[in-house]
Amino acid sequence: MFTKKKQFVALILIVAGVSLCFMMTVVYQKYRGLQVNMVLEGQEPEPSLRLQLKKPQASSLLQQKEPIKLFSPLAKVPVAEVPTNIRKNVAESNFKIKDRKEILEFIHKQCKKYGKLTVGPGEAKWPRKMVIAKNWKEHKLIYASNPKTGSTSFKKWVSRMQGNNNTYDEIRHVHQMGRYGNVQELFDDATKRLGHQVTLVEAVEPMFKVTVVRNPITKLLSGYKDKVKRLNKYGLKPVMLKMNPNLKGNSTNAEKYAAFVEAVVTGRLRNHHYTPQWNKMKICDFPYDMILQTETTNQQIHVVQEHTNNTQYEFPTSKTGTSTLQQTKDYYSLVGPELMDKLHRYYLWDFVLMGYSKLDNPNFPYLDFDQNIDNEFGMLIAEYTDTITEEPGTQPTLDPTVK
Ligand SMILES: *[C@@H]1O[C@H](CO)[C@@H](O)[C@H](O)[C@H]1NC(C)=O
Ligand SMILES: *[C@@H]1O[C@H](CO)[C@@H](O)[C@H](O)[C@H]1NC(C)=O
Ligand SMILES: *[C@@H]1O[C@H](CO)[C@@H](O)[C@H](O)[C@H]1NC(C)=O
Repeated sequence: MFTKKKQFVALILIVAGVSLCFMMTVVYQKYRGLQVNMVLEGQEPEPSLRLQLKKPQASSLLQQKEPIKLFSPLAKVPVAEVPTNIRKNVAESNFKIKDRKEILEFIHKQCKKYGKLTVGPGEAKWPRKMVIAKNWKEHKLIYASNPKTGSTSFKKWVSRMQGNNNTYDEIRHVHQMGRYGNVQELFDDATKRLGHQVTLVEAVEPMFKVTVVRNPITKLLSGYKDKVKRLNKYGLKPVMLKMNPNLKGNSTNAEKYAAFVEAVVTGRLRNHHYTPQWNKMKICDFPYDMILQTETTNQQIHVVQEHTNNTQYEFPTSKTGTSTLQQTKDYYSLVGPELMDKLHRYYLWDFVLMGYSKLDNPNFPYLDFDQNIDNEFGMLIAEYTDTITEEPGTQPTLDPTVK
């Protein structure tokens, strides 16, 4: 009896001791985690940590192998490993991920403030090119395709959902819209469900509706590299000579690029790859569930996967059109203040409505919701005339590069 009691007390003590140790470990790990998170989210990392960070790279996420798993704030990171991983993997984009709701709220606020919300409740306007999977009932995703923001990756991904088992490198001709589901089916289905002719809003209601936006400054450069820079056999594309007859095949990249920027922002070169995004994607007038940034798509895509029954399909990565911050600055080195001003004016509402940063903003090229928009763009907003960004016909001219 007595020994039994002793045994019992001893057991209690052991259990209590073990629990205490466990709790202290948990608290310690939480505390460590908190410290690491504070560093990850803060603007100024500890000096010792800062030395270990990689140099900031514009859009470097697309060159990263596995940034999401390790550094999305939503990912569960084994705390003890963080410092090693920071050394190896942290790219600047990991500090710039924004929450889905935060982005939507910011954009909605700006749309209202600047009078760009033009539809009433229950109404919507069609964004450019909505892509759905043929089996959209299994993967309720609408992707509105914005050129030069990763649309090739998104379309390859939709091809995968539809059962295309080829490797992503092998999946080609993704810009042919006939390969995907027919949006009319959404209307037919909703009409059957609701028993009356349905509106666009009703038709797309069951779907998770996303698009991707990108800083106009890097987007324009990406468009240039992809569509214009590639030389023909005379060393210079004829379109470049039209922009500026003084250009030579051996002109520098910066010289050619400045001529290109001039041609685009003065309206001499019009192509849907370079036009402002907010209007063609109906950023204010379509009920998006998520607006991703190209700059952090890799870290945000899991949210789309979770909402669309797609966690089993890996999102394809792409390197196309990405430049480091230094490369971007080099290309823009001959774009003088006046021309840069014209660029800011041409893309005014992409900056103002979505919160994109100018080239000299430390947050460039990411969204910056804390910048003083009126300071940065107030002058341009004041002198703004609608003719600059309202495209006359939103139907793009058909050319073989249409995305
Ligand atoms: C999720 O997707 C798979 C195919 O990848 C499909 O078999 C399944 O039915 C889908 N689930 C739902 C709830 O639609
Ligand atoms: C793709 O692979 C899955 C599983 O291996 C298979 O069920 C399906 O039929 C394949 N689809 C095509 C189009 O080959
Ligand atoms: C560039 O090419 C032009 C002819 O197109 C030539 O006259 C000029 O010398 C070249 N300049 C350089 C720096 O090579």
